[in-house]
Amino acid sequence: MEQHPTSAPVTIGRRPVEAGGGPTRAVPVPVAPMPTAGPLVDTFGRRHDDLRLSVTDRCNLRCVYCMPEEGMTFVPRREILTFEEIVRLAAVARHLGVTSLRLTGGEPLARKGIVDLVARLGSLGFADLSMTTNGMLLAPVAARLAEAGLTRVNISCDSLRPGRFAELRRRGDLDRVLEAMDAAEAAGLRPVKVNVVLMAGVNDDEIVDFGRFARSTGRTVRFIEFMPLDADGQWGRHRLVPGRRVLDAIGAVWPICPVVPEGSDPAPAERFRFVDGEGEIGVISSVTQPFCGTCNRLRITADGAVRNCLFSDDERSLRDLMRAGGSDRDLALALRRAVWAKASGHGINDPAFAAPRRSMSMIGG
Ligand code: 5AD
Ligand code: SF4
Repeated sequence: MEQHPTSAPVTIGRRPVEAGGGPTRAVPVPVAPMPTAGPLVDTFGRRHDDLRLSVTDRCNLRCVYCMPEEGMTFVPRREILTFEEIVRLAAVARHLGVTSLRLTGGEPLARKGIVDLVARLGSLGFADLSMTTNGMLLAPVAARLAEAGLTRVNISCDSLRPGRFAELRRRGDLDRVLEAMDAAEAAGLRPVKVNVVLMAGVNDDEIVDFGRFARSTGRTVRFIEFMPLDADGQWGRHRLVPGRRVLDAIGAVWPICPVVPEGSDPAPAERFRFVDGEGEIGVISSVTQPFCGTCNRLRITADGAVRNCLFSDDERSLRDLMRAGGSDRDLALALRRAVWAKASGHGINDPAFAAPRRSMSMIGG
């Protein structure tokens, strides 16, 4: 296995990544050899230390912006990574300098034995081991997850009105998700972040309500722009609520100011705090203000494909490599190659943009 990087970050950076990664989608034309030691870098010099690992493509909900109500096809179980395979990949990534691991899905808590998996991953030494969950199954296991080494959770909640919540998430129950937030906090999984996917004409009349919720609970509410990653192909710009609109709406009621100056933080959310000190919100403006220029994320799907971008269909199967007897060194090389092949940006705003073949629940959020 490769050694943990000790050298300075490699900067290839033959051309700057355009601000926001758009509108064109520059694909790397390698002129420098790919480094075989040191951190995971792409040809634009972006260092990758944040891995999103999907543990299942299945889910107990059918959110309108993600899955169809009926007829979603799931990957057959034998094609899903086993716990051994997941832990092995996570260990290889850790040795390549990945410091942050987020478990995603589908719904990660729908995978049987998830607490044991977290415990095994928890021993690998990630600085941050978090999970994105819909919260439906969280309350009863929150304390055990925290004991197993989980550090934080992001809980999806797109409406504070029970009827609308149920409509939007189709099988969801708002009270259960609110209980999950309390349980997570009680277990020390703090700070709880609340993910809100906004859709124009659907839930954008709740922006100020969510602002009030952030202030009264101390939870960071993150407003996410609807992305063309829904399985139904319903995405359209008429449904998009730009992050700017969120800031204007909330700022008109309570003054807000940026927490970290734009561009200096690789996290996708732009953070804002209420000037009177009562809490924080974030906007994830993936479409209108792409943050590809500072992207440090790579993904592994539940069936073991490494993807260098949510929006790129460039996938390499690490599962097949493992099942064919590949070594940890082979896996490390495959991860390096995947990152090295990363384009400058997602190109959603490019006229030639085509939505990726796999939708959000199949990739992992
Ligand atoms: N656009 C934006 N966000 C989405 N999510 C799921 N589908 C979409 C989409 N089409 C969110 C979920 C969850 C995270 C993993 O991604 O709500 O918070
Ligand atoms: Fe399930 Fe999350 Fe997709 Fe909703 S957004 S259907 S909770 S995977």
